[in-house]
Amino acid sequence: MTRLNVNVDHVATVRQARGGIEPDPVLAAYMAELAGAEGIVVHLREDRRHIQERDVWILRETVKTKLNLEMASTSAMVKIAADVKPDMVTLVPEKRQELTTEGGLDTAGNLKEIKSVVKQLQKEGIFVSLFIDPDPAQIKASLATGADMVEIHTGAYADAPDEAGKDAELSRIQKAVKKAYDSGLRVSAGHGLNYFNVVQIAKIEEIEELNIGHSIISRAMTAGMDLAVRDMIGLIRTGSL
Ligand code: PXP
Repeated sequence: MTRLNVNVDHVATVRQARGGIEPDPVLAAYMAELAGAEGIVVHLREDRRHIQERDVWILRETVKTKLNLEMASTSAMVKIAADVKPDMVTLVPEKRQELTTEGGLDTAGNLKEIKSVVKQLQKEGIFVSLFIDPDPAQIKASLATGADMVEIHTGAYADAPDEAGKDAELSRIQKAVKKAYDSGLRVSAGHGLNYFNVVQIAKIEEIEELNIGHSIISRAMTAGMDLAVRDMIGLIRTGSL
């Protein structure tokens, strides 16, 4: 059965909009685990736009399933990962101006650097995954780094404007997953997956786990709106919940 890892970055995005203490991604992670998530994912960005170091440290203490830290392959982040010791790290490309992680890691173009970061993390006992596009050259390079897993970027599939485009992207993903799996890499997938497009990806047998954030946080906010408003009206009218 494919496992679900929930990315709680956008709980922190809402918190950072006010610079306060709520909503807390740590609490959201706890609720996600209670609901059956088998892993929690956070991306500690260089600009700290959502997840903060404090979150990662507390999650390290509280997550009972598996903590997957997404990070850029910089020496500053390697030091944080070595101190925090998440269960796994996913290396992602990072650009300051992007709204979200846009493309996969260019492992083929930065083989030496990425191989060195993979080695440093594995020496700390951390399982390492590389977030890559469904591209045979990136899979070959990922294998050469010694990484344990690749996370196949599903963004182009999710953003395909029509059925033909979606089918083409799905087929690229299926081939890439098979190539990675057959070469001995463990395989996950994620980015842009939602309640409309996840089923086709979940059907790919070699994918062990899916990393999903935005659509789950969006649904939590809208599905929870009814209760939140009723509670506030009750409090205003009666003075208690
Ligand atoms: N996987 C990786 C490597 C990501 O960077 C992200 C976004 O932070 C996700 C999965 C989740 O993407 P989404 O928020 O679109 O579900």
